[in-house]
Amino acid sequence: MYTIHELYQLADALSLFYLVACAVALPKIPLSKRNDILASSKRDGVFKNIDSFKKQIAKTNSKIQSGFAAFERNTGNVHPAVAGFRGALTATSTNPAPEKLTSISKRATAAEPLTDFEEDLWFGTITVGTPPQTFTVDIDTGSSDTFLPAVGCDSTCDGHTLYNTAASSTAVDTEETYVLEFGSGSATGTIFTDTVTIAGLTARSQAVGASNQYSVDFEVDEFPPDGLVGMAFPALSTFGDNPLFTTLVNQGTVPPVFGVKLADTGSELFLGGVDTALFTGAFRNVSLIEEDFYALNLQALDVNSETVATATGVTAIVDTGTTLLLGDTEGVEILYSTIPGAKDASAILGEGFFTVPCNRIPTVGITLGNQIFNVAPAILNLGVLEGNDCVGGVVGSPGIPFWVLGDIFLRNFYTVFDQGNARVGFATLR
Ligand SMILES: *[C@@H]1O[C@H](CO)[C@@H](O)[C@H](O)[C@H]1NC(C)=O
Repeated sequence: MYTIHELYQLADALSLFYLVACAVALPKIPLSKRNDILASSKRDGVFKNIDSFKKQIAKTNSKIQSGFAAFERNTGNVHPAVAGFRGALTATSTNPAPEKLTSISKRATAAEPLTDFEEDLWFGTITVGTPPQTFTVDIDTGSSDTFLPAVGCDSTCDGHTLYNTAASSTAVDTEETYVLEFGSGSATGTIFTDTVTIAGLTARSQAVGASNQYSVDFEVDEFPPDGLVGMAFPALSTFGDNPLFTTLVNQGTVPPVFGVKLADTGSELFLGGVDTALFTGAFRNVSLIEEDFYALNLQALDVNSETVATATGVTAIVDTGTTLLLGDTEGVEILYSTIPGAKDASAILGEGFFTVPCNRIPTVGITLGNQIFNVAPAILNLGVLEGNDCVGGVVGSPGIPFWVLGDIFLRNFYTVFDQGNARVGFATLR
């Protein structure tokens, strides 16, 4: 067996060969979205889909709790964040709490019930089995397992492409079952190992969950891709197995780094390196403080280049599977209290939501690794709630024990997830 260090050396040695070998077909897949809830709010500039956003927050919450449970089973240790939000954000000046919005006029659409909800997530294509069966999968850096709906699944999987283990000569039944908690329900099934190909790269004996039941949250109306590929570290695996990307690395297929672009167009996952066509300049890198989620130390918050809060002991995870930029409720309130004209919209939209004046949406800066990463006003803005009040994309979540850098953050950068060097880096999108 190789040690991790030897594996990385091996991966380094392989990467030159790998770069040459890949000159023909780059190891990348396009990522797409359907009924993107952010885009649909932005299209006509009116905030909508509040139920989708809330459901998304609940799903992120239960995914994180599942990750903690898996971490404890896998490592024998309680995850440091299990006790709840640990750090503190301290305002650099005293400001009154934002004024509370208590009603909005009828014209506003925010409270409309949602009829066509679909999850906001990024998906690409993989093949599984021999001969290959093709599936679309959510690419999620906030979890670590790969699962699909399988033949024999009940009506909860209707409309999805089903994984037929019996039709794959490389599928091996481990006879271990799983329950993955996501949102209001769970996905249950049996763990198989099989050959999985992603972006032209093949992993052998990869653990794949063959689900015989999906929760409501994974039914096709709400979850357009068939399954999910978790891109975080092994410690978070509910299966207790290596994530797909770890298997590719361990089998010497790819160096332990991948790049992601998430945007309205041209979104992409690039395995084994970064796609130099998609960014300019150098990466600003931030060291991981844990290797389970991609966990970073959040140091401060800025509004229009002015530091409004400093943080101690606050963790932020980088999560492609979350739409909003989520934070602890107190820290988020501090942030909005420093934005002139911001209002507390909890009475209308639910706890944690705030508005900012549409004509003065600020640039919000997040300090990580002593560097400030700015969220552009156009990305922060979720759309008009009413009049000159626009909903902000930074939302407080009481249930989540750290900050979650989702889409609202990631759309501002090209992101490199560098497992080999235990860091995440952000570069300017081209
Ligand atoms: C930041 O990380 C990227 C990707 O791993 C790497 O190419 C780059 O050299 C790093 N920059 C610094 C200054 O370490």
